[in-house]
Amino acid sequence: MTSLLTLRSRLFSVLIVLVLGGILLTYTYQKNAAKAMAYLRMYKRVHVKEMPRPLDDVLLAEHQPKPGRSIFFLETTRVTKNISDMKSNMLQLTARQACAIESAAFHNPNFEVFILFIGPIYRYPDNSSRRQSPIIDAILSYKNVHLRQLNVWRYVEGTPIEEWVKEGDLFESKYPANHISDLLRLISLYRYGGIYLDMDVVLLRSMENVPGNFAGAESLRSLANGVMGMEPIGFGHKFAEYCLFDFQHNFNGTLWGYNGPGVITRVAQKFCGTKNISLLLNDRKRCHGFHVFDDTAFYAVHSAHWRYFFQPEYLQQALQLTKHSLLVHVWNNISKQLKIKVGSPTAYGKFAEQNCPKAYAAAGLYF
Ligand SMILES: *[C@@H]1O[C@H](CO)[C@@H](O)[C@H](O)[C@H]1NC(C)=O
Ligand SMILES: *[C@@H]1O[C@H](CO)[C@@H](O)[C@H](O)[C@H]1NC(C)=O
Ligand SMILES: *[C@@H]1O[C@H](CO)[C@@H](O)[C@H](O)[C@H]1NC(C)=O
Ligand SMILES: *[C@@H]1O[C@H](CO)[C@@H](O)[C@H](O)[C@H]1NC(C)=O
Ligand SMILES: *[C@@H]1O[C@H](CO)[C@@H](O)[C@H](O)[C@H]1NC(C)=O
Repeated sequence: MTSLLTLRSRLFSVLIVLVLGGILLTYTYQKNAAKAMAYLRMYKRVHVKEMPRPLDDVLLAEHQPKPGRSIFFLETTRVTKNISDMKSNMLQLTARQACAIESAAFHNPNFEVFILFIGPIYRYPDNSSRRQSPIIDAILSYKNVHLRQLNVWRYVEGTPIEEWVKEGDLFESKYPANHISDLLRLISLYRYGGIYLDMDVVLLRSMENVPGNFAGAESLRSLANGVMGMEPIGFGHKFAEYCLFDFQHNFNGTLWGYNGPGVITRVAQKFCGTKNISLLLNDRKRCHGFHVFDDTAFYAVHSAHWRYFFQPEYLQQALQLTKHSLLVHVWNNISKQLKIKVGSPTAYGKFAEQNCPKAYAAAGLYF
């Protein structure tokens, strides 16, 4: 009897322990689960929103360039080896590049400005609390500026030069960043029409009303390909197609300027029916509607005089030379090593102050 009682009370104790344990377990489990859910929600709010994401691909993005009403810039110098390395592929622009972009957006409010980066470039979402660089903020404050990435293989697809690019000579070039850029600017104009600009320019005036098909001479020997416009249909499109043809057939990866300035010079000479550059200038009739601006339009300060932009003693000369220019091209190839002090009385500083005030202000002490 006693043993039965003891057994019962023992069983009872075990039952109590089990029930209590169960309650305790359920309670801690639920508490932890609630904690986990709360954490997940917070993680999503903070981290997913804050996760950098790749720029939209120019060809796949919902918002497409308006044919003939877009300005294109290309950044090809940061071609990355490791496409999954998010950190080294974060969006970056120098204040000078931002200045070119801002001046284009500022003077051409009815055009859309597209900056095309090769390969995946990551940035924080607009609503992230992570600070973008003030330089990026400066250009994104213009609603007509759009950042896009570009996949070279996809970009050449369906163009007349696709097969040739896939053969690979382009990538064996001694100057890959330059030569890829030379090609992609032509493909941009072939695909969409509009205007291509180098990142080392500052626009001084609007280009919304320049002729649809144009380039500029940098001397009486050569046109340059830093500033070009082609219409998306008709003659402009034919001209772009012919440029691609010339690029492919005359490509030489050992010669720096042969596939850029060389192409636009040869094609303009062909369409205008003369090799003599002085006969091409400002003579649209001879050139079937293609306008070749003389050097005052874009290259008023020649590359040999690049210091005119950067040294105070040449301020007056530079302003005089560029009095009628649509834009200035500051020869980044040579001038990038020379920074100017923000606020210094140089021509470049003056142009920046007036035509890209936000990028110039975001530059800090040196520009
Ligand atoms: C590429 O970058 C990713 C992410 O940083 C890294 O995990 C991977 O090891 C890198 N690959 C190479 C080949 O360096
Ligand atoms: C932030 O952006 C992401 C995607 O870009 C979007 O899903 C999310 O709803 C946005 N959050 C707020 C608070 O605007
Ligand atoms: C490229 O140009 C160099 C220098 O003029 C020349 O020696 C070479 O043969 C050219 N290559 C091709 C493929 O035309
Ligand atoms: C090009 O044309 C200009 C103007 O007609 C002429 O003065 C010049 O001699 C020509 N140059 C050449 C190399 O034929
Ligand atoms: C630009 O740089 C390349 C080499 O990086 C050089 O070959 C070329 O001559 C330079 N162009 C000018 C205009 O100085």
